[in-house]
Amino acid sequence: MTDQASAPEPETPDTPDTPDIPGKPTSASRTTLSHIMTHSDTNLLGTVHGGVIMKLVDDAAGAVAGRHSGGPAVTASMDEMAFLEPVRVGDLVHVKAQVNWTGRTSMEVGVRVLAERWNESTPPTQVGSAYLVFAAVDADGKPRQVPPVIPETERDKRRYQEAQIRRTHRLARRRAIMELREKRAAEGFED
Ligand SMILES: CC(C)(COP(=O)(O)OP(=O)(O)OC[C@H]1O[C@@H](n2cnc3c(N)ncnc32)[C@H](O)[C@@H]1OP(=O)(O)O)[C@@H](O)C(=O)NCCC(=O)NCCS
Repeated sequence: MTDQASAPEPETPDTPDTPDIPGKPTSASRTTLSHIMTHSDTNLLGTVHGGVIMKLVDDAAGAVAGRHSGGPAVTASMDEMAFLEPVRVGDLVHVKAQVNWTGRTSMEVGVRVLAERWNESTPPTQVGSAYLVFAAVDADGKPRQVPPVIPETERDKRRYQEAQIRRTHRLARRRAIMELREKRAAEGFED
């Protein structure tokens, strides 16, 4: 099967219209950030602090979002951060990030975190993963349009479709919470 250089059709009514700016392939902004873990990265147990990994994840995803959108982009949300294995001092950590999906002004960036011993030639193992949403912003911090991402491989296309599912759930959750708050406020509850 060939990998078509075109964005998949939107699958849900919540997906925004495709912006009238040219698309960019996934590979144009895919990035890997690598970092050796040292003693200053540890928690009280002696393994690497989750926040250190999250910072690397946000850094790598932010670079991808900036490259894809061609300018500043801010983290709007981070969800499904999974820590699969502990990371140790002396591990060389690779944070691999790519744009999974684009809306009108936002992008979902998927991140995989791999670790290998810095001085051994064994294959890296996956130690974490995360999905982040970035919004591209203009000089005033207001959302601006992003180029639609063009998934290139079957894996890219699967990730695009899965990102649409997450997007639908994020919007539904946000809407449900807003409706509950409005209902409680209308009923006179204060918190
Ligand atoms: C993110 C931000 C720019 C959104 O601004 P806004 O006025 O709410 O704009 P919108 O509602 O039009 O949202 C812009 C896009 O972001 C998406 N978005 C906003 N909040 C989101 C959230 N919590 N989760 C997922 N997506 C979100 C919207 O769906 C929209 O995407 P779309 O255009 O592709 O449909 C604004 O909330 C902000 O500046 N937040 C602070 C960001 C920051 O400082 N990050 C660093 C954290 S330390």
